[in-house]
Amino acid sequence: MKRVCGITLLLGSMLGVMSVLQAQDEAPSDPNYPAWAWAIPGPDDHRTPTPPLDDTKYTLPGSNFSFTLGEAQGRDPNDRSVRFGPADWFPEDHPTMPKIVADGDDERGITPCSLCHLPNGKGRPENAPPAGQPREYTIATLMDMKNGQRASADKRKGNIFRMNKYAELMTVEEINEVAEYYAAMKWTPWIIVKEVEEVPKVYSSIGMWIPSEGDEAGMEPIGMRVIETPENVFDAEILRGPRSKWIAYVPVGAVEKGKDLVTTGGNGKTMACATCHGPDLHGMGAMPSIAARSPSYIARQLYSYQTGDRNGTMAVMMKGVVANMTNEDFVNITAYLASLPAQAETPTFNTE
Ligand code: HEC
Ligand code: HEC
Repeated sequence: MKRVCGITLLLGSMLGVMSVLQAQDEAPSDPNYPAWAWAIPGPDDHRTPTPPLDDTKYTLPGSNFSFTLGEAQGRDPNDRSVRFGPADWFPEDHPTMPKIVADGDDERGITPCSLCHLPNGKGRPENAPPAGQPREYTIATLMDMKNGQRASADKRKGNIFRMNKYAELMTVEEINEVAEYYAAMKWTPWIIVKEVEEVPKVYSSIGMWIPSEGDEAGMEPIGMRVIETPENVFDAEILRGPRSKWIAYVPVGAVEKGKDLVTTGGNGKTMACATCHGPDLHGMGAMPSIAARSPSYIARQLYSYQTGDRNGTMAVMMKGVVANMTNEDFVNITAYLASLPAQAETPTFNTE
């Protein structure tokens, strides 16, 4: 019964059903809250329409395999619950996955890490990109989650609660193993930054922006936002393609303005990021890589450090950095960071 319970909960939240607890919470009222980064679904939002879970086989460009939709999403076609690891479209892109990454653990209610973060750890804007992060950093941040020191500034974001629960349930051995796994891979290009005046109108499919279709389709001014959408909605969202890239639409001029803040600290507004994050901003020692990654993810972290919701053992070093940042700074900084080169151009990893 325990197992059924976990699955039902997961299914409920994957369908966008908010638990009572989350529904009581409201958006932070602070004018600097970057709502674009959280993409909390509103009453008019819905899940991306998905074909039925039947025997139809799908393919992805470059993959040697074909899978049914159930296989691609790790779902049981009978009741749509997530029961097994998602399809591994490109096993050649990553080392052998630790068991918990590939399969999770039904007994403990741990969903396979690869379902949300993809087998290669690239993740998606609504979760996180753990690939290419230093081992020490991943251990430290999972321990922070375990100890309740890493929360979301917007309490309506349900998948962060679930992530914290998985960290709580993981053993220290598993934490070490996944940290090693993600550290063995280099971060490859993932985000295409486009400076625009106007963006496609979007809706939030459980925390991810998808271009609207039909009568709802059209363009609107970007305003002071970054809008991250899949380059190919079907491949990325429906088939969970781990090579399917993301477009980050950013306001005109954001990259240049962000460059000033990141490289010089913008006249005392913040601190030059390279001091701690390394000359190429891909990490140094236990410091995480912050370049070429999802702007939505990065902005959620900056804001959650600012509100103190992310308050782990090493967070104190980010306190002063984010103290004076505004929504506009989050937009500019994340636009510039996302435009930087990755750690490697093509999948590169160590196997032991
Ligand atoms: C239901 C989706 C989901 C699953 C399954 C999941 N995660 Fe996460 N993970 C998240 C979310 C959401 C975040 C936090 C995003 C944020 O802070 O905005 C996260 C963050 C992380 C981070 C932090 C990355 C960083 O750069 O600080 C790590 C590491 C991580 N997850 C590892 C794992 C591992 C290991 C597993 C499997 C045991 C797992 N996750 C399973 C959704 C998921
Ligand atoms: C004084 C050192 C220092 C400086 C300067 C600094 N950082 Fe950090 N940063 C850290 C440390 C340490 C962490 C890890 C904190 C933790 O574990 O929560 C971190 C974490 C982060 C994270 C979270 C990464 C993740 O995967 O979740 C982001 C985003 C970030 N920094 C962005 C920046 C930006 C942008 C700048 C420049 C404007 C910057 N940092 C400047 C030390 C620094």
